[in-house]
Amino acid sequence: MNIYSRITGTGSYLPPNRLTNQDLVDQLAAKGIETSDEWIVERTGISARHFASPEVSSSDLAFEACIRALKSAGRAVSDVDLIIVATSTPDMVFPSTATILQHKLTQAALAEGAEHGAAGCPAFDVQAVCSGFIYALTVADAMVRAGSAHCALVVGAEVFSRILDFNDRTTCVLFGDGAGAVVLEATRHEGHGSGILATDIHADGKHREILCTPGTVVGGQVMGDPTLKMDGPAVFKLAVGLLDSAARAVLEKSGVSLEELDWLVPHQANIRIMQSTAKKLKLGPDRVVVTVHEHGNTSAASIPLALDHAVHNGQIQEGQIVLLEGVGGGFTWGAVLLRM
Ligand code: ACO
Repeated sequence: MNIYSRITGTGSYLPPNRLTNQDLVDQLAAKGIETSDEWIVERTGISARHFASPEVSSSDLAFEACIRALKSAGRAVSDVDLIIVATSTPDMVFPSTATILQHKLTQAALAEGAEHGAAGCPAFDVQAVCSGFIYALTVADAMVRAGSAHCALVVGAEVFSRILDFNDRTTCVLFGDGAGAVVLEATRHEGHGSGILATDIHADGKHREILCTPGTVVGGQVMGDPTLKMDGPAVFKLAVGLLDSAARAVLEKSGVSLEELDWLVPHQANIRIMQSTAKKLKLGPDRVVVTVHEHGNTSAASIPLALDHAVHNGQIQEGQIVLLEGVGGGFTWGAVLLRM
């Protein structure tokens, strides 16, 4: 009998403040910046996004997503023995958002009368920008298969609205805030027909400058520009090729054919990137999960948000084969193939 990891529950959370394109167009117009609903929809597929209010942090969004994921898995906070948070918008420089989340989950469990929460289990962040959830799931899968975790919370959580330059129309219309989480549990069986079937992650720092938030803190002061910078056309070109190669790599590793694939859940950056990727893989639109129109690009949160959305609206069913894949700043890219 071998140990494999399997997603047993999903959950997600969007902050209540939903901004349509028109809301954003009006806000930007007040600053003399011109854009339109038509331009945003045509170039990106985005119609709306959610922005967290100023007092809400990534760990708050992650907390709500985790509570929902645990409920859907039928697990308690005290069952959790590993927490990994993928984020590029952490609550603070340190400690990690994962440890803050761990404490919030523990406090909530104790307040509800549990004997203990998740205190003591390993908790850490992964920083791979929009590929962060794929990286986090890959690490959690390896730890579960090695026997060092049995019930992991793997989370993507972001407040990208905090790092946007609202004077730059080429980037500020693209992103949103939110969180998604999965419960990943150990399962023992012969052969390898269920749970996570294959993972594949990569990075190449030579592309670091086409998508970055270059600011840092020196002597208590922000040095450099702390807002997101992107060369959109360069990112677009690179992303499509990398997503195609990541998808093919996990299919080859697992021996699953493209025809056997039920769903592609790509990072929700831009509808045209998703359509180009699906076209290269010869997948029809009916096999691609799309939430970018309602969420915008939520970076590390986008894949678990889309996965949870598709599970809860009945698109993704138990037993189906699902390919999750992402690409992001660094550049980083990767994919996870699994049977739900
Ligand atoms: N409203 C109106 N006009 C705009 C806007 C806007 N919000 N933004 C840019 N424009 C204008 C530009 O100024 C330019 O005008 P010009 O021709 O007079 O100079 C024109 O639109 C075209 O600009 P491009 O940047 O060439 O537009 P493009 O068609 O490439 O679309 C976009 C821009 C949507 C960013 C595209 O490059 C893209 O999808 N790139 C992928 C990047 C992406 O999705 N990144 C997300 C983060 S990365 C990740 O998650 C992996």
